[in-house]
Amino acid sequence: MEKKWALITGCNRGIGEKILEKFAREGYCVYAHARKHTEAFEEKLARLRVEYDTDVVSVCFDLTDSTAMEEKMRELIRNKAKIDVLVNNAGIMHQNLFQLTEMQTIREVFDVNLFAMMELTQWVLKLMLRKKAGSIVNISSVGGLDLNRGMCAYGVSKAAVAAFTRTLADEAALYGIRVNAVAPGFVNTEMAEIFKEQREDKPAKGSAGGLRRFAEPEEIADAVYYLASEQASYISGQILRVDGGARNFKEL
Ligand SMILES: NC(=O)c1ccc[n+]([C@@H]2O[C@H](COP(=O)([O-])OP(=O)(O)OC[C@H]3O[C@@H](n4cnc5c(N)ncnc54)[C@H](OP(=O)(O)O)[C@@H]3O)[C@@H](O)[C@H]2O)c1
Repeated sequence: MEKKWALITGCNRGIGEKILEKFAREGYCVYAHARKHTEAFEEKLARLRVEYDTDVVSVCFDLTDSTAMEEKMRELIRNKAKIDVLVNNAGIMHQNLFQLTEMQTIREVFDVNLFAMMELTQWVLKLMLRKKAGSIVNISSVGGLDLNRGMCAYGVSKAAVAAFTRTLADEAALYGIRVNAVAPGFVNTEMAEIFKEQREDKPAKGSAGGLRRFAEPEEIADAVYYLASEQASYISGQILRVDGGARNFKEL
């Protein structure tokens, strides 16, 4: 059987690292993206190759560097790369009130969370459209669905990710390509450290609404894998909340 390939962004840590592990464990070959090419990252990929007997190849560039992205993607296309699944995971967070947030910061957040995602997706679609097949999973956030105070940069960028997901799903469906998003609540990674500190004064409420805990990154990886897989072959244009049942981000 022909091997399936996934390109996953931001694999060196956090949720992306667990998404990478999940896909490798399930037998996927992976183009593992990271901003920096480090020895530690290559060692990690080598361990995965041995453990799961699959191909795991590093693809390194800063997502906001269009030239570097173009170079890498052209190389993959030249080498007849096959990409069955794209997971747009990498992102940055910024929290502050709107009037205290500089426009430059808002632009930086949108550059990574939305524009780089769109740019990479255009490159990958060149390959998927030829095959008339593929599955794309974007990482949004409940912060982008419930939109509370302090989230004018991050939350609004993640709302745009959800809107992009639904719009692209409609266009890509003509070619048999599915596009979905996962919208996590708080997840135990470096990104959410700041929220843990903010919640220490609210022990009665616990660390989150619903299940009253942060998600582990593996729990987000499972949802991403499900949406990408054939198990979800009739699901497209959906934004899947993975928030432990907290119906509103303000409850968290
Ligand atoms: N953690 C949460 O509570 C939570 C909740 C909802 C949604 N999310 C979303 O889930 C995704 C993963 O978050 P996380 O918690 O795993 O965050 P994280 O631990 O901070 O990891 C972020 C990843 O994105 C990469 N990245 C950021 N900017 C980049 C750039 N310009 N070029 C290339 N790579 C870049 C980082 O690379 P470096 O190591 O080089 O910085 C890192 O690999 C993000 O989209 C985030 O918004 C997270």
